Amino acid sequence: MITQINHIGIAVSSLDARIPWYRDVLKLEFQGTEEVTEQQVRVAIFQVGGVKIELLEPTSPDSPIAKFIEKKGEGMHHIALQTDDIVQEITDLKAEGIRMIDESPRDGAHDAKIAFIHPKSSGKTLTELCQI
Ligand code: CO
Repeated sequence: MITQINHIGIAVSSLDARIPWYRDVLKLEFQGTEEVTEQQVRVAIFQVGGVKIELLEPTSPDSPIAKFIEKKGEGMHHIALQTDDIVQEITDLKAEGIRMIDESPRDGAHDAKIAFIHPKSSGKTLTELCQI
């Protein structure tokens, strides 16, 4: 079952350039940065109520985030929906004919298990499932 929005992912060219907007101007709670090697990104995390905003900076030109910024510019990249059972969620979606980018969960930030739904199946909004 999907229980809440876990985070909103925003693609940025530079964490250093963008962190002050969220931390110093909007005064959101800054929870630090983390590198997610598998996705070739550095992530800065802000907490707003029960939801996080994650700024995603590419660490390599091959990073999916680098390609996204090249095509579309900086901005909102994906929405992450939290589920209590990601394997079951993927099974249920596939049974509905939904296309997955990740057919099985992989490691995300904070030891979460994540899987992306294909944007062709989600009305172009890149949607991540995550279980923490
Ligand atoms: Co995410």
